[in-house]
This record gives sequence, C-alpha cells and structure tokens, in this order.
Amino acid sequence: MSERKLPKKLPKVVILDEKDKRLHQKSTDIELPLDQKEIDRIHDLMDYLEMSQIEDIREKYDLRAGMGLSYIQIGIAKRIFVIVYESEEGKFDRYVVINPKVKSTSEEMVYIGEGEGCLSVNRPTCGIVPRHARMTVEAYDEYGKPYTIRVREELAVCFQHELDHLDGILFTDKIDPKNPYKNKDIYRAI
Ligand code: NI
Repeated sequence: MSERKLPKKLPKVVILDEKDKRLHQKSTDIELPLDQKEIDRIHDLMDYLEMSQIEDIREKYDLRAGMGLSYIQIGIAKRIFVIVYESEEGKFDRYVVINPKVKSTSEEMVYIGEGEGCLSVNRPTCGIVPRHARMTVEAYDEYGKPYTIRVREELAVCFQHELDHLDGILFTDKIDPKNPYKNKDIYRAI
C-alpha cells in the first residue's frame, strides 16, 4: 500500500483476451521469496493500473480503466494479483496479493449495480455477479511478508474477481446468459 512515483512512460503490459484459453487454467502458488525482476513486474502492473485510472493518461494511451490484474491475465499461471483502488479522489491504495487463502466470508451478498468489468473482456456485458460483501484473506506481499486483510464492499468484490482469475474463472462465466439478472432482488446492489 506504499505510494510510488509514477513512471514517465506507461509500462508495457500485454493483457490476454477472454478468447485465450489460458484464462481458464488454474494458477499455482509461486515460490517465495520473489526475485527483483518479479518484484519490478508487480510494481509495473500497479503503475499500469494506476495510470489507467487517471483520465489524461488513459486518453493519451487509449487505455481502459482497470482496478485489478492477475498474473494469468499476462499469461503467467501463478497465484498473484494486484489491485489499485482509488479510495479517495486522487489517492490510490495498492494491494499485492500473493498465494492468497480465504479465511472467512460474510453471508451477506452484494453485486456491482452497473456490472463488473475486466481488462480481459473487451465487449459490453450485462448481468449480476453475486459476491460476498466482506471477506478476510491471508496472503504475502511482494517482499514475502505474510499479512491478513479484511476487505469490504467494492474492494471485496475486486478481491473476489481476482481470486476467481487464479482459478481460471471469468466474471462472465458466473452470469447466466438466459437470465443475467437472476436472483437480483436477494442481493444488495453497490
Ligand atoms: Ni478481470
């Protein structure tokens, strides 16, 4: 969650499209500690995400805004994802989540009212994806330090979206094409 100065140039990140079968494979734990090259890659991915959320930069490079990326989306089947979450205007919190284990989840379920999005899904989608409103996760940071985090609401949805990527699941897999708003009334929209 450290703050870091953004690079002058956008880091090169090639993101797999949903048609790529690799997105449906299950990732495996990565061995720790990570080498410096891997740590640099993680930081590049977070710089990319942060830059994609800043309007001028997004327009300059013709990007789509993204909050999270998992390693499988760049073709590496290891259990790592990163999230850059704008908690206040212009304030970006960074999360590096390596070899995560879900410790607990709330019974209460929510969904993103305007629908989820994914940097690997480049088409309009509709439908709801039920997610736990809160969850507790144990993971390691990029320096191999273990930590426990409790996340809620939009950030919890983002964690679950990325956890799914590690198991080869896209948010679109969770939407019933025949009835995309199924059970909508029993969950809370956020
Ligand atoms: Ni995604």
